[in-house]
Amino acid sequence: MDKAVLDTGSPKAILLRDYAAPPFWIDKVDLTFDLREDETIVTSRLTLRRNADVAAAPLVLDGQEMELISVALGGRGLTDRDYILTADTLTLTGLPDDGQVTIVTRIHPEKNTALEGLYKSSGNFCTQCEAEGFRKITYFLDRPDVMARYSVRIEADKAAYPVLLSNGNLTGEGDLEGGRHWAQWDDPWPKPCYLFALVAGKLVSIEDHFTTASGRDVTLRIYVEPGNEDKCGHAMTSLINSMKWDEEAYGREYDLDIFNIVAVGDFNMGAMENKSLNIFNTKYILARPDTATDTDFLGIETVVAHEYFHNWTGNRVTCRDWFQLSLKEGLTVFRDQQFSADMNSAPVKRIQDVTRLRQVQFAEDAGPTAHPVRPESYIEINNFYTPTVYEKGAEVLRMYHTLLGPQGYRRGTDLYFDRHDGQAVTTDDFLAAMRDANPDKVVDWEQFRRWYAQAGTPKVEGEGSYDASSHTYTLTLRQSLAPTPGQPEKLPMLIPVAMGLVGPDGTDLPLRLSGEAAAQGTERVLILSQPEQSFTFVDVGASPVPSLFRGFSAPVKLSFDYSDAHLAFLMGHDSDPFNRWEAGQTLAARLLLGMVADRAAGRDMVVPDSYIAAFGHVLDRVSEDPAFAALALTLPSENYLGQLMDIIDVDGIHAARDQVRAAIGQTHRDKLLATYSACLTNGPFSVTPDAIGRRSAKNAALAYLMAAGDAQGKALALAQYRDASGMTDVIAALALIADSDMPEREAALAAFADKWKDEALVMDKWFMIQAISSRPDTLDNVKALLAHPGFTIRNPNKVYALVGSLTGNAPIFHAADGSGYEFLADRVIELNKLNPQVASRMAKAFARWRQYDAQRQAAAKVALERVAHTPDLSRDVYEIISRSLEG
Ligand code: TRP
Ligand code: ZN
Repeated sequence: MDKAVLDTGSPKAILLRDYAAPPFWIDKVDLTFDLREDETIVTSRLTLRRNADVAAAPLVLDGQEMELISVALGGRGLTDRDYILTADTLTLTGLPDDGQVTIVTRIHPEKNTALEGLYKSSGNFCTQCEAEGFRKITYFLDRPDVMARYSVRIEADKAAYPVLLSNGNLTGEGDLEGGRHWAQWDDPWPKPCYLFALVAGKLVSIEDHFTTASGRDVTLRIYVEPGNEDKCGHAMTSLINSMKWDEEAYGREYDLDIFNIVAVGDFNMGAMENKSLNIFNTKYILARPDTATDTDFLGIETVVAHEYFHNWTGNRVTCRDWFQLSLKEGLTVFRDQQFSADMNSAPVKRIQDVTRLRQVQFAEDAGPTAHPVRPESYIEINNFYTPTVYEKGAEVLRMYHTLLGPQGYRRGTDLYFDRHDGQAVTTDDFLAAMRDANPDKVVDWEQFRRWYAQAGTPKVEGEGSYDASSHTYTLTLRQSLAPTPGQPEKLPMLIPVAMGLVGPDGTDLPLRLSGEAAAQGTERVLILSQPEQSFTFVDVGASPVPSLFRGFSAPVKLSFDYSDAHLAFLMGHDSDPFNRWEAGQTLAARLLLGMVADRAAGRDMVVPDSYIAAFGHVLDRVSEDPAFAALALTLPSENYLGQLMDIIDVDGIHAARDQVRAAIGQTHRDKLLATYSACLTNGPFSVTPDAIGRRSAKNAALAYLMAAGDAQGKALALAQYRDASGMTDVIAALALIADSDMPEREAALAAFADKWKDEALVMDKWFMIQAISSRPDTLDNVKALLAHPGFTIRNPNKVYALVGSLTGNAPIFHAADGSGYEFLADRVIELNKLNPQVASRMAKAFARWRQYDAQRQAAAKVALERVAHTPDLSRDVYEIISRSLEG
């Protein structure tokens, strides 16, 4: 790329190694918000105390996009001889060791399209301060290690904004002249400013209560726009379940008398854990069976729990700096995964989580934006709310759990909370707590620490050999980690390998390693810490099939020399459900990639009978566990298959999957129809794990019938679309119809849009199913939908539904003529001005452009360079695009 362009005013990287404690602490913040239609005046009184541990330095406050009205020290007004003002700082010199500084600023929430800081959504005021949004509200030390107590007074028009909320307890309220009113909120818990929140609006609430283990009565409220009261029940139940679960699983109680949630329609991410005032994307609150799918219901349960769990993992104990983000996010994701596993089916949840990890995190690790769980540098921290920090971070927590066992892990978290309550700490502090709470466990913690420091997905290769004369089985494993940007050399990782040996009769054999006095159970955790290691098991009566990385015990890519027969055997017999599923996926991936290779070589693609037969066996057993079966019936995704190729053959992968799906639909027509009928749920609609499982198996069966173009399948899809009472079934059927060329397609789509035009979240589904269709007219259709009255580029959910879905639609987005790339570049450029966070999330779809063929690479490069040359490129987009071009 044209280097000069990037060099002019290139944003600077922030480095972990530059961390320094602040020169002042802020113990108390008194805020007043005067909310008006055309401006908001913020008065902030900071109670400062010099940090005696660091050399005296001026106080450099962060502040952006606001107008400074006045600054005073004590009662004395300062002039511009006493401070230095730049575009993003306010520097105060000559301050006493203790003092109060009062700052008055003017901001414009009504013009804020970035949805960061104070902004408006559907006419209501709300905030989003993580990571660095507080600096758009007032001048402050906007860093998580500065923890203060907040008192907040909000003043606004009473008719337009009857509800006024902030963190902590409501300590006063009253009326003002001119139809205005005020409320005073005091939060007794010190917190970093990223956890500050304010809401003012016309909202209604539903209320419930929770009594904590020690007897505290907590009032729980969920605030939504009028008309949505009847869609909050599932979120409330999920909140109560999470409060109870955190007491039982982690010994953590809630610490205030009130817990509020507000749902807003314009939100960049899923939700935000502001102290006692969580703010949510409506997508993760609002659900009624006729408007929300099973996936939505499960997503609500997980996200409500996630934000609630942050009260301890994030709020009571927070991050020293943003490089430590996974300290709170990885841990909290692991906690919400454990919770959802307990509420539903643990194996199903694990399979879904691993599928997502592979889909998004492994892809990130393999591209130009690869970074460690604890990054060492960033340009824009918002770009680091990534699958690596969240999902791989959660895998690191799971490995502590695997290495220490449930009790050792709990000892570790107990010590972590004891030691660090009220502090801002690091991932090293967390590791130290785990280590110190488990002095008897022999774990090389220095080596384990590399999971935080080294980017990339380790590869583990291996083979096994059975010696019939000595009854020994030797398992040899080798690990390697490829270079990632900025990390050319890697050291070996400490990899927990949960495993068993499955005997010829399908049962697990006792596991005795050579040198041990006796067998230690039938499942154990081997530690792979060397580049290559062999493990010899003795007393092995017959040649076993090893079952490795049970439950996916480490985030690695395994390639083991299994025959197809071994995989089929594990599919049928492994006692570990994850590995039963995994064996089927490995077999399917092997077969699909073989077909892709045949197609590329000009040979016919053939679906082997053995695979179709194995699939039939899964269909025969659907009733045993429909939810699990639905996952076993799902082929590896196009994205995942692409990751297994050196150069991604977009069209080949799509064609191979289509052909296998059609073959299954034809051969197993009768079994699929039987599955469909057997899984119909009778009686009242419910979202229990059983009902959800049956619906997913039924809809998987329907999809195969449709893939085969089966007439009865089409009739079933139409009937299901017309008659189903729940959104899961309606949208599953409509998605299949929308992806087909059935004559009923247009009318069905039109009827749906007409029925749901006033339900934004339902319309998102309508946009999404059209954007994921593999029909050749999809891109044109999506372009037309940009002008649909229900679409707006200013709403993140709409962008994710239409533009985001399209970037996940491989054959369309990666069309050889570059049309998909050109479309995305246009959207990124448009969004860059309005909402840099959303623009940059969309721009990440370009990241793996070098993994495609030369023609596609050339087209992607043109699109990337066009974005790079856009005037006023945000730091967010700049960082992603420049990294992608550097490769
Ligand atoms: N901490 C939030 C979470 O629960 C993440 C989040 C919400 C966020 N909104 C954001 C991060 C805006 C960056 C910008 O995971
Ligand atoms: Zn979080």
